[in-house]
Amino acid sequence: MEARKHTAYESYVNPQWVRLLNQAQMNAEYDVCQGDQLHTRDGRVIHDFLSGYCVYNAGHNHPRIIEALREELESSGPSMLQSHVAASAGELAEMLCSRAGGRLRKVFFTSSGSEGIETAIKFTRATTGRDGLLAARNAFHGLTCGALSLTDNRFWLDSFGPPIPGVTFVDFGDGDALERELSTSKYAAFFLEPIQGEGGIVLPPDGYLRRAQELCGKHGTLFVLDEVQTGLYRTGRFLAAHHYALNPDMVILAKALSGGLVPVGAVLMTDEIYNSIYSSPLHAMIHSSTYGENSLAMRAGLSTIKVLEQEDLGPRALRRGEQFRMRLDEVLSRFEMVSEVRGLGFFIGIVFSQHRTYPGIFGQMVVTSMFREHGILTQVCGNNAAVLRATPPLNISEEGLDRFAEAMEQVMETAHSSNRFWQDAMQLVGRTARDLRKRA
Ligand SMILES: Cc1ncc(COP(=O)(O)O)c(C=O)c1O
Repeated sequence: MEARKHTAYESYVNPQWVRLLNQAQMNAEYDVCQGDQLHTRDGRVIHDFLSGYCVYNAGHNHPRIIEALREELESSGPSMLQSHVAASAGELAEMLCSRAGGRLRKVFFTSSGSEGIETAIKFTRATTGRDGLLAARNAFHGLTCGALSLTDNRFWLDSFGPPIPGVTFVDFGDGDALERELSTSKYAAFFLEPIQGEGGIVLPPDGYLRRAQELCGKHGTLFVLDEVQTGLYRTGRFLAAHHYALNPDMVILAKALSGGLVPVGAVLMTDEIYNSIYSSPLHAMIHSSTYGENSLAMRAGLSTIKVLEQEDLGPRALRRGEQFRMRLDEVLSRFEMVSEVRGLGFFIGIVFSQHRTYPGIFGQMVVTSMFREHGILTQVCGNNAAVLRATPPLNISEEGLDRFAEAMEQVMETAHSSNRFWQDAMQLVGRTARDLRKRA
């Protein structure tokens, strides 16, 4: 039965994905997933240090979130009637605004992070009457047309036609370049991840975010924070923005708000932005989304926030994340191929020095070894293959943290001292090259 399902996926969904997982020797069949542990059909236990790219902040299949969803399903309520006032959307919006603070007083609900970015593009253009959009180089905001246009990485862009017009990029962290662009007064919004995720867990230089916010305010550009990865206590605070005392005009959340179970995203905004879009009853649905306020998604959001807070997972991420980062730094700093361990809370990146012969391949080899030999699921960053993610569920067990640190040390030791690692690397390169030749 399983084999048949697998074949159906290959035939009808995405055979290249199956190929990629096979090449990386990471095509496991998962059975039961609980907390930070993924149990496979052949009896292995894998610790999740990827968390679906920051989806599983509350861990996998949290029993209280499942219970809340079950209750919602059994209530037979008006799930997405679109002709009623969705009370649970009000409840979740209130909860989000009270946690986010500042001037964020209205919420538009989406079903993904990209949809949140699309919303922000429309709303900031309408509010300011400007078309220009500013984004940071090496950013990642999603892959729908508008969100994709906010990345400068050709890998994601090529072959999909021209990006939306009016987008300009500035280096992440360069306040002077930002000031030069903003002074043209042509930008509706500056889109920014407070800590770049797929770019390589890149922390902002001191004072940069506050300066960016001030400059945006001065030049009439809205300051939009993409907290799709960094939000929901991932970095220890509800928003990463809170570490830097920011007061943004908009914040986009998604991923972890789902509890890992029902897609939900949220765009938090000021009253001023809301009022410029939803200006009269005639415009009450001028921007809407069929699944946006559905009751299952709202329940997932509400119960996820409750779990994160009742289990104190924010303060834990801050404290344990910092200790864990220091421990990794301590055990890995003696290896020349590790140049830095950086991050905030449980948003951690291990930065590799680029290998002369195999730039880009080294990180992937570490991912494969960690998975195959040590039962750790992780990945390199989407825009930066030289950075390995250590982003576990915020309730990661002590055993999981120990296993990761010991495994990383052993993998580095092997890479440092044994030919086997490099023979495997050459095989991986060979397999990929053969596959490319077959496709050509
Ligand atoms: C920072 C950031 N913004 C937006 C997105 C897009 O979110 P989604 O995949 O839910 O559309 C992602 C996805 O990885 C992301 O990392």
